[in-house]
Amino acid sequence: MHFLVGAAILVLGIASSSLGTVLQSGRAELDNYDLRIQILHDLLAVECPELDYYKKSRPSKRVLANTEHGTILNADKTVYTRLYLQLVACRNAKRAHIRHTTPKPTLLPRTTRRTTLKPRTTKRTTPKPPTTKRTTPKPRSTTRRPTTTTVDPNQPIECREAETFTEPWRLEHNGQDIKGNGSHNYNGYACDLHADTRWFRFGGAAGNRLLDSCPKYKSCGSLYPLWSDEPMPTKVGVVSTIKMYAVVGNNCKKAALDLQVMRCSPRKNDYIYVTAKPSVKKNYKCSDAFCGMK
Ligand SMILES: *[C@@H]1O[C@H](CO)[C@@H](O)[C@H](O)[C@H]1NC(C)=O
Repeated sequence: MHFLVGAAILVLGIASSSLGTVLQSGRAELDNYDLRIQILHDLLAVECPELDYYKKSRPSKRVLANTEHGTILNADKTVYTRLYLQLVACRNAKRAHIRHTTPKPTLLPRTTRRTTLKPRTTKRTTPKPPTTKRTTPKPRSTTRRPTTTTVDPNQPIECREAETFTEPWRLEHNGQDIKGNGSHNYNGYACDLHADTRWFRFGGAAGNRLLDSCPKYKSCGSLYPLWSDEPMPTKVGVVSTIKMYAVVGNNCKKAALDLQVMRCSPRKNDYIYVTAKPSVKKNYKCSDAFCGMK
């Protein structure tokens, strides 16, 4: 089994437990199924685009009379079950097919918060990703892209050695589904959560800081754009840990991850960032990328 951000963990966790679970009905549950189906739909669109069935996009939110809930809910459960089984079958087929060539994409570390959708009775059956600890910044690789930012020699060492993200797609916040590619990308969707991630800043065409408002799903060169509206540190040279969020579907804060931030100078937006718990899995792939802003 593999992971597609918190969403996949969530979906599979729910799916494996909910097929036989009787849940209370009502609008909330319908919305819940709407979102689950949307997530499965999106996963299938990415992982199994060859299946025509899943290319259809779902209609927008339905307006229902109360009496229709039961009927629609049953239909949704059926659709959900079918989508889930298709996803499992598709993944199994691919796994069998590529076992000897390509590693599975894997995503978020275990710190992902799943607050909204999980039924209380859910028993999670997904395996734990390995826990990883990072203590000191990694040694610098000489193969990194050069930075064009001028840095003050009196700045903290992390600031002087941070890399600069300059890709223009980091400023695309409207869900244009642009594939940023790059190392560790999953199906072309840019990946910023891999093990060799290090301190970075935004510069040039990528803006000058991490986006502070919710982007649309499928923005910023990836499937799950990362952003944060948390307060930024005010003291120079002090590492703070804040939450960053992955957008999945209409949910701006579907997954919460730790992000370390340091202010490099009193200048406005002079920050560097590093993922607190990147994945250290071999041949890791993900579809989560940082959004910039100007
Ligand atoms: C990513 O790769 C695809 C396929 O090679 C290409 O069409 C696309 O333009 C690339 N994206 C960017 C942002 O360069």
